[in-house]
Amino acid sequence: MQFKLEAQDAGSKARAGLITTDHGTIETPIFMPVGTAASVKAIHQRELKEDIKAQIILGNTYHLYLRPGLSVLEQAGGLHKFNGWDRPILTDSGGYQVYSLSGTRKIKEEGVTFKSHIDGSKHIFTPEGVMDIQRTIGADIMMAFDECTPYPCDYEYARKSMDMTHRWLKRCISRFDSTEPKYGYSQTLFPIVQGSTYKDLRKASAEFIAEQNREGNAIGGLSVGEPAEDMYEMTELVCDILPKDKPRYLMGVGTPANILEGIALGVDMFDCVMPTRNGRNGMIFTTQGIVNIRNEKWKNDFSPLDPGLDGYVSSFYTKAYIRHLFISEEILGMQIASLQNLSFYLHLVQQARQKIKEGTFAAWKTQTIKQVMQRL
Ligand code: GUN
Repeated sequence: MQFKLEAQDAGSKARAGLITTDHGTIETPIFMPVGTAASVKAIHQRELKEDIKAQIILGNTYHLYLRPGLSVLEQAGGLHKFNGWDRPILTDSGGYQVYSLSGTRKIKEEGVTFKSHIDGSKHIFTPEGVMDIQRTIGADIMMAFDECTPYPCDYEYARKSMDMTHRWLKRCISRFDSTEPKYGYSQTLFPIVQGSTYKDLRKASAEFIAEQNREGNAIGGLSVGEPAEDMYEMTELVCDILPKDKPRYLMGVGTPANILEGIALGVDMFDCVMPTRNGRNGMIFTTQGIVNIRNEKWKNDFSPLDPGLDGYVSSFYTKAYIRHLFISEEILGMQIASLQNLSFYLHLVQQARQKIKEGTFAAWKTQTIKQVMQRL
């Protein structure tokens, strides 16, 4: 993998760059649609490519390991062959999903034992095992195995957890560096900064992560319920320490406003379930603002969903029709909303990239947040 920094904004710390992988180039800043279980929910691969113009999608180690399982993925020749997505894929390590199974998991130095949410069967994830699984999935970008601390989290727990995440990282690195990709293209490993909302821990973690000198770095443990101001403060502190010549990935973030603020602080990559999950619940992001499509207000509104986007669903369907689909529980409603929301997120980061290159990002950001976050 390679990263080329193309431009830096004059009025903020925003950057535009290019990440090159064996499955193609990614223009940053970028939003990565979440495809947890080998599918971006309710979206065809063709739509991802042609309508949404997604450049990279996520997969998840925890879900893929449980279903379809490693044997199927290996026989398919990896996840790209299995789901037909031939552009880059990043897999999260399961270090987040496993923790959200609180009650059915135990964290020890060796790793995490947990019970499957599907059939209750017992499993263990270790740093080494999670590297091997991501080798078998064949992700272009693999994530280190970490513990994402909850919020709030007391200082002592956050410190001990961060230290363990660092020891786990060392184990991930030894396993990664002593194994080969299985499918003939290269893979890379991103470590993850932790440290909860404590400045000294975040600083120590960012320094430790930077020293590992990997090809890209991630910031975890944020967007877990802390105030947005804390998330921005931690992100800024960490970005100022992580190397400038490598991509920075803020995990699990966020709203359109969170993403634009993250970009302003020097983040290059984002992922979040919000556009697809909220879309399936009838919350639709548009260039004009946020639409709750179930609202009575749209019953007789025959204007296009989003005249500000030139994609198919944005201009073809009316709000009244989409509202009808949601009220009648027609699955097409969820498909349209997911497609619109992802198109909007990709358009937003594409525009941000353009503004960074033009040197007008900071003013554009303030104006855009005001517009796109208003409730219509
Ligand atoms: N997704 C969102 N936050 C996190 C995190 O802290 N760790 C991992 N592995 N995934 C995440």
